Amino acid sequence: MERILTGDRPTGSLHLGHFAGSLRNRVKLQDQYETFIIVADIQALTTHWETPELIRTNVREVTLDNIAAGLDPKKTSIFVQSMVPQIAELTVLFGLYTTVSRLKHNPTIKTEAKQYGFTDMTYGFLGYPVSQAADILFCRADLVPVGEDQLPHIEVTRFIARRFNELYSEVFPEPKAGVSEISRLIGLDGNTKMSKSLGNAIYLKDDSRTVKKKVMSAVTDPARIHKTDPGHPDICTIFAYHKAFNAMEVPEIEESCKKGTIGCVACKKNLIRKLEEILAPIRERRAEYDKPGVIEDILISGTARAAEAGAETMALVREAMHTNYWKER
Ligand code: TRP
Repeated sequence: MERILTGDRPTGSLHLGHFAGSLRNRVKLQDQYETFIIVADIQALTTHWETPELIRTNVREVTLDNIAAGLDPKKTSIFVQSMVPQIAELTVLFGLYTTVSRLKHNPTIKTEAKQYGFTDMTYGFLGYPVSQAADILFCRADLVPVGEDQLPHIEVTRFIARRFNELYSEVFPEPKAGVSEISRLIGLDGNTKMSKSLGNAIYLKDDSRTVKKKVMSAVTDPARIHKTDPGHPDICTIFAYHKAFNAMEVPEIEESCKKGTIGCVACKKNLIRKLEEILAPIRERRAEYDKPGVIEDILISGTARAAEAGAETMALVREAMHTNYWKER
């Protein structure tokens, strides 16, 4: 069976942007692939090193979000990045032949550095794509389902795998990125990206009342004042959500919006119904797993499986790099 590796930074709860861009795709793929989900606490600390308690809390939250979204811990290994030592080992080794200029020119690094106000980047932040390559390659994954913003990182990973194989010997597959159709979801305020830091997100754990309130206050086409004014669905937040979560009804909604036969309030109510269909079972599963010790046990066994895969890979890597100085005794 081919392998998948993907995951999240535990900096906050997961929202509909994560769900549309990656989570629901993972859930679908977990039956066709051996799946590893990384909770990337070290990567989160490259931007949040001053608040490790926050990352710790969110390791549990993000794990719960993944399971609530439908990842089955019996089929899928969910694990904590910092608890798999082979990832740290590989990060050091991959750094030997990955140049600083390759990282400096990474567009996602540039965007995030600006966003966080990093003028003088730390070694760890600049190097997190190398660490992300180790996240992916420690288990020799074949496929990495991610949102579009992650593509530069997957390119770095592919370079690192290819170069390792050329320099030493064939150890790593060159993993493919699997980008979902909707890989970036617009925010409630009409901003191009739904994100926690922009405060424009609907969370998987939001209750019905909160979801309703958020949708009702979302930005729509500003040119529509009266219900009968013809609408412009392509610039409407709510229409973007219909496209992401209510694909079946999209042609009908588009037509009636353009004709001015459906008002924004009715259109929002329709969306709320659809979102509830998606979110209600997610909330149910969350309640089922949100009990003392349950998430911890899932992470412990997922991390053990990941470390096993890591040990197999490290044995090959040491042989390839001539660093297997002696056999384990
Ligand atoms: N960089 C990803 C994000 O910000 C999280 C992540 C860490 C990841 N390691 C990974 C994603 C490995 C895919 C594969 O969402």
